[in-house]
Amino acid sequence: MSNVRPESMARITTPELANAFIEEQVAAVRAQVGDKKVLLALSGGVDSSVVAALLIKAIGKQLVCVHVNHGLMRKGESEQVIEVFGKAMDANLIYVDATDRFLDLLAGVSEPERKRKIIGGEFIKVFDEEASKLEGISFLAQGTIYPDILESKGVKAHHNVGGLPEEMHMELVEPVKLLYKDEVRVVGEALGLPHGMVYRQPFPGPGLGVRCLGAITRDRLHALREADAILREEFDKNGLAGKVWQYFIAVPDMKSVGVKDGKRYEGWPAIIRAVNTTDAMTATIEEIPYSLLHHITDRITHEVDGINRVLLDLTPKPIGTIEWE
Ligand code: XMP
Repeated sequence: MSNVRPESMARITTPELANAFIEEQVAAVRAQVGDKKVLLALSGGVDSSVVAALLIKAIGKQLVCVHVNHGLMRKGESEQVIEVFGKAMDANLIYVDATDRFLDLLAGVSEPERKRKIIGGEFIKVFDEEASKLEGISFLAQGTIYPDILESKGVKAHHNVGGLPEEMHMELVEPVKLLYKDEVRVVGEALGLPHGMVYRQPFPGPGLGVRCLGAITRDRLHALREADAILREEFDKNGLAGKVWQYFIAVPDMKSVGVKDGKRYEGWPAIIRAVNTTDAMTATIEEIPYSLLHHITDRITHEVDGINRVLLDLTPKPIGTIEWE
């Protein structure tokens, strides 16, 4: 398959078009791979999940998926990967809980770019170690999509944790590389992936590592994950999940004084960020009803250990980036 999308290629907008694409790619993958094995780093994000589902349909157990939990996933994400791919789709899935490795390396590191480099570098190491334990792997599958090619990244290296070393010397299998994101989603639904997985908001490769600001500690990371889960739950329940492009909590490395149960209570603030954008280059602030903000504040401050204030970030991009780090 060339890296240029033919002008004649219709935009995939319906289940019928998606099914035709799937049939075509299933045949192409079978022809490319034969009876050999294919390795895939499965993060649980939209692109790698759709590639996994497509390859499971095409070659079943010849696909080996490796899911590395770097300890910076959102609440429930690794569990969903195991549930959907390991159980429901009965895939060949290797789950690696590398939480301690990542958090030990990150201890005391506060500089954002160093944090990103450590996370990206360690991810490659863990994946490589798993790959070297396997025998007879000839292909590496990737969730490259068309915008990645247009931005001439080709391989999803960039700052994405999914970027894998070229030295792996494996032929690539990239069945969705000519698709735009909206098409990948239509194909994902046609493959039977859960709606929530296919339409989930973008999540940076370094995960909660860029939202647990400064040097990551386990207790503050835990508080961030719990607060973020409450925000997502409330956005889901109140019809904002489909309206807001990206929303999350960031927790800075600072404490303020508060009062809880009549006693002094020092805690971290949870900062709500909820933005709309089309390309992530600029972003506007979504208005959230005050009643919902009060409810979210109430839940986070009462349910999450260590958080004693909730703040709302009203800064558009520019001047603020979407993430805090
Ligand atoms: P910023 O913060 O630059 O983010 O306005 C724009 C979009 O990119 C995502 N982002 C990242 N994605 N690795 C990623 O894979 C990263 O290090 C990273 N930093 C930001 C961010 O979530 C937003 O959607």
